[in-house]
Amino acid sequence: MAHEGGDRPTLRRALGLVDAVGIGFGAIVGAGIFVVTGVAAGIAGPAFLVGLFIAAIAATANALSSAQLAAEYPHSGGTYEYGYRVLHPAAGFAAGWMFLASKISAAGAVALGLAGYLDAVVPGLHPRAIAVGAIVVFTVLNVFGVRRSSRVNLGIVAVSLGSLLLFILAGASSFRIENLRPFAPAGWRGALESAAILFFAYTGYARIATLAEEVREPRRTIPRAILITIGGAVLLYFGVAIVAVGAIGTEEMAATAAPLQAAALAFDYPWVATVVSVGGVTAMLGVVLSQLLGLSRMGFAMARRGDLPAFLQHVDPRQGVPRRAVLLIGAVAAIVAATGTLREVASTASFTILVYYGIANLAALRMPRDAKLYPNAVPIVGMVACVGLAVSLSMPIILLGLGVLATGFVLRAALRRFT
Ligand code: ALA
Repeated sequence: MAHEGGDRPTLRRALGLVDAVGIGFGAIVGAGIFVVTGVAAGIAGPAFLVGLFIAAIAATANALSSAQLAAEYPHSGGTYEYGYRVLHPAAGFAAGWMFLASKISAAGAVALGLAGYLDAVVPGLHPRAIAVGAIVVFTVLNVFGVRRSSRVNLGIVAVSLGSLLLFILAGASSFRIENLRPFAPAGWRGALESAAILFFAYTGYARIATLAEEVREPRRTIPRAILITIGGAVLLYFGVAIVAVGAIGTEEMAATAAPLQAAALAFDYPWVATVVSVGGVTAMLGVVLSQLLGLSRMGFAMARRGDLPAFLQHVDPRQGVPRRAVLLIGAVAAIVAATGTLREVASTASFTILVYYGIANLAALRMPRDAKLYPNAVPIVGMVACVGLAVSLSMPIILLGLGVLATGFVLRAALRRFT
């Protein structure tokens, strides 16, 4: 444990630009592109490509807001810290709580998304057992320190990005324009709902910000790492989505739990399907790993301010890891993986994280003028996009998300009163 600029416990700065970019890609490229594109294709038809574009605009604006905030306030906790410092403690708490809700459910869902692709590599395994097992393994890995986790993460990212690049190259010649007709069978409403769900596919860039306290030279490293990862993901997703829909059309994409594998089977080189399945498995493992990393750091940051029980802020003196926060978050994510379903949980993860980024954009608007890296138009676009996408989701998901938020405030009031 280190003590920087005060007597609050802090974490060791062990991560450079390559680690940070790896953590970004590891957090972003996962079930969204490998699985949720099929769900979105079923909702909107080929117009899910428009949804992917709208989601990219929202994600980029949000990423830029997060980047300038992270550069100015490089402490664990991301928007939780910015909300506290720039807006109001209640806004900070709301952001932190929604982050926990979103990422715990997403970690469970992504672990479940593994099953569709793992089945192509190792047939006959039990999906829920795989999901829970993945979370247990990565929780243990996190307990042994961020540096080791980051190396594993870089290996995972190399395999999953390589498989998607191969998918684009091998599948380009199988593109059939008739697979994009009719383009928007569910109209603009369908395209917007697909955008809200596909926003899930881009989330993860702020993971770099939530680890800010462990990054070397944060003012320089964090904005660069966030921009490299979000830009790379946008390009990669468009390439993959256009190739997939061009190869098999949206009906076939929507009918399977492994849409990219199904598309690759239609290529001139069907062995690519096996490579893509391996890449899907590694990508989703990478997302689970990075979500658990980011979650435990958020738990640590919230406990440090008294918004979660104090025992969670304990940092292991040798590894520099908030071990109890890691174990508790891992246990809750394992329960979600054992009980949740991919489609509902991906939508819930989108709604809750849109609230989180809404608060990030507000904080970016209100941060000191001389600390801003970008014009106010960036957080304004991000804010409008967050609200527009959140209300495009179905009413049960919106009500569930608001219920989770209200529950958080009730628990916080109880914690403050009785401890
Ligand atoms: N962006 C992450 C994924 O697609 C959450 O799995």
